[in-house]
Amino acid sequence: MADVLFIDSGVGGLSVWREVKLLNPNLGCTYVFDNRFFPYGEKPDDIIVERCVRMTKAVMASSSTAFDLVVVACNTASTVALPAMRSALSVPVVGVVPAVKPAAQLSASNVIGLLATPATIRRSYIDRLIAEHASNCRVIRVGSSLLVRMAEEKLKHGRVRSGNMSEILKDFIAEPHLDTVVLGCTHFPWLKNEIEGALPDGIRCIDSGEAIARRVGSLLSAGGGDEGGRTGPPKCHALMTDAGCEDYLSYRQLFQNLGFEDLGELTI
Ligand code: DGL
Repeated sequence: MADVLFIDSGVGGLSVWREVKLLNPNLGCTYVFDNRFFPYGEKPDDIIVERCVRMTKAVMASSSTAFDLVVVACNTASTVALPAMRSALSVPVVGVVPAVKPAAQLSASNVIGLLATPATIRRSYIDRLIAEHASNCRVIRVGSSLLVRMAEEKLKHGRVRSGNMSEILKDFIAEPHLDTVVLGCTHFPWLKNEIEGALPDGIRCIDSGEAIARRVGSLLSAGGGDEGGRTGPPKCHALMTDAGCEDYLSYRQLFQNLGFEDLGELTI
């Protein structure tokens, strides 16, 4: 059975882990998050690249698990760090691409929204993605770190203060023809109800979690991942880069509730 390593800045990337596990229940998983450098959406590109490569290599070097695949469960990191990660690692690396292509195909009005981090919305990667797959659409971009923090809070403490949601989404609300919004940050599926609730009726929000889960499944079956490697039941482990933070116990409770075995620290 195969083992997969997931990385993100926080716990939002668990939205990707959740979809991957749903479709591939036999996978062993390790989820690593860089809470020391959270949020990535406010960090310079070179720092994000360096942290992602260092974090992944450190887990691989210190773990007894031979990982079959790495999932970068973070759009902000995927849109900038994939080439460096692929050249540094010998296993396949799957990134999260904002669902701009499916949104362009689904939209009847050809007006779509991209909701992501401030870093993601200004990336040239996104310009190319739109030029390639949504050139017939008008794409309204909204970048928000506040939403990322709200999602992290919701996961840690089970509650969300959604008071300023309409303010954050005002550029979408002001656009009468908008019919589809891409949740281009893996934290945002955790706020899907709150986001849809603040938008005018009939606007749908989509993300790429399920597509990533299918991609992981097909790469693992192509590589024979389900037959070789680990024996015994699939386990999930979590690591964070700063376990001394004041919210450690809330994080540990979250992972326990999701069926993870433990939450340790990765020192890098
Ligand atoms: N989960 C992230 C993403 O998909 C990162 C959010 C952040 O750290 O700013 O972009």
